[in-house]
Amino acid sequence: MHVLRRPVLAVADSPRVEHLIRRNGFSSGLVRRFVAGEDLETALTAVRDLKTKGIASTLDQLGENVTTAEEAIAAVGSYTEILKRAAAAGVEPNISIKLTMLGLDLADDVARANVWPILETAQAVDGFVRVDMERSTYTARTLALFEEFHDRYPDQVGIVIQSYLRRAHADVDRMIERQARVRLVKGAYSEPPGIAFTQGREVDTNYLRLMDLLLERGRYPAIATHDPALIDAAKELVTRKGIASDRFEFQMLYGVRRDAQVGLVAEGYRMRVYVPFGTRWYPYFTRRIAERPANALFVLRQLVSG
Ligand code: FDA
Repeated sequence: MHVLRRPVLAVADSPRVEHLIRRNGFSSGLVRRFVAGEDLETALTAVRDLKTKGIASTLDQLGENVTTAEEAIAAVGSYTEILKRAAAAGVEPNISIKLTMLGLDLADDVARANVWPILETAQAVDGFVRVDMERSTYTARTLALFEEFHDRYPDQVGIVIQSYLRRAHADVDRMIERQARVRLVKGAYSEPPGIAFTQGREVDTNYLRLMDLLLERGRYPAIATHDPALIDAAKELVTRKGIASDRFEFQMLYGVRRDAQVGLVAEGYRMRVYVPFGTRWYPYFTRRIAERPANALFVLRQLVSG
C-alpha cells in the first residue's frame, strides 16, 4: 500500500475523470491488462489459458452498487449463468460476487433473497461462491449475511477479510471458529483512520498475524496478495509448521505479477487468479490504478496526451 492510494481513489471518484478515462474505452492497454474481456466467452478463454499454466480462476462479472431491484435480479441471472457455463466448459465453477451488485443498497432482504439461487446453483454444479468485501460501510452487514449463507451452504461459500480494518482480527477469529473459508486481502478502498490502519506497515503486520492464524487453524485459506514479503512469510510458515500445500492457496489478480503466478505454481503451490470481466469495469479499474504509482502515472500521461 502506498501513500498515493487515497488521493488517487478520491480523484477517480470525480465524474469528469471517469468520463475522460471511459472515453478511451475498453481498448485502452491498461484496462485490457486488468480486465479479461467484456463478455463471458472471452473471460472463459482467459480461464482456459490460465488452466493450461496450472492456475485456477475465480470469475467476477464486474458491477457494483446497483440502484434498482431489476438490476439486482439481472445480476442473479448473470452469476448463475457463469456457474453453469463454466461447469459446461469443463472449468471449475468458481465465482466472486459483490452484495451491492445483488441489491445490498436497496435492503439486506433484497441481497439475501438474491444470493440463495446463486448458492443453490453452486451446489448443483459443485461450485464455489466467494463473497467479496466492499467498503467498510458494508462490512458488518456483509458478514452477518455471509454467516446466514454459510449456515446453509458451508461448502459452497466463503468470505473476504481485509487486514487494513481494525476489526479484522475479531472477524478472523469468528470465521475460524465456524470453519468458514477466508480470502485474506489488505483491502482496496479508501477508509477513515478510526476504523482502518492507514500506515502500510501496520496493514502488513496485521496481515502477517491473520495469515498465521488462518494457515494454522483456518479452513483452506486463500492468501490473496502480490506482496513478495508476505508471500515469502507464508512459504516460510508452511514449511516450518509442515502445512501441506493442498491446505491453502495463493490468489492474485488478473494481469498483476503474472511471472510470480507461474513461479509459485512451478514451486508446487496452488494459485488462483481473480478474473474480472464485463463492461462495467471503471470502479474495479480505478482500485487497480490506485494500488501502484506507476499505473496512476501511466493513466495520467494517457489523459494528458489524449
Ligand atoms: P501491495 O498493494 O502492497 O502490492 C505489493 C506489490 O504487488 C506491489 O509493489 C506491486 O509490485 C504489485 N501490485 C499490487 N497491485 C498492483 C497493481 N494493481 N498493478 C501492478 N502491480 C501491483 N480487496 C478488497 O477490499 N475486497 C476484496 O474482496 C478483494 N478481493 C481480492 C481478491 C484477490 C484474489 C486479490 C489478489 C486481491 C483482492 N483485493 C480485494 C485487493 C486487495 O485488497 C489489495 O488492494 C490488492 O491485492 C493489492 O494489495 P497487495 O496485497 O497485492 O499489496
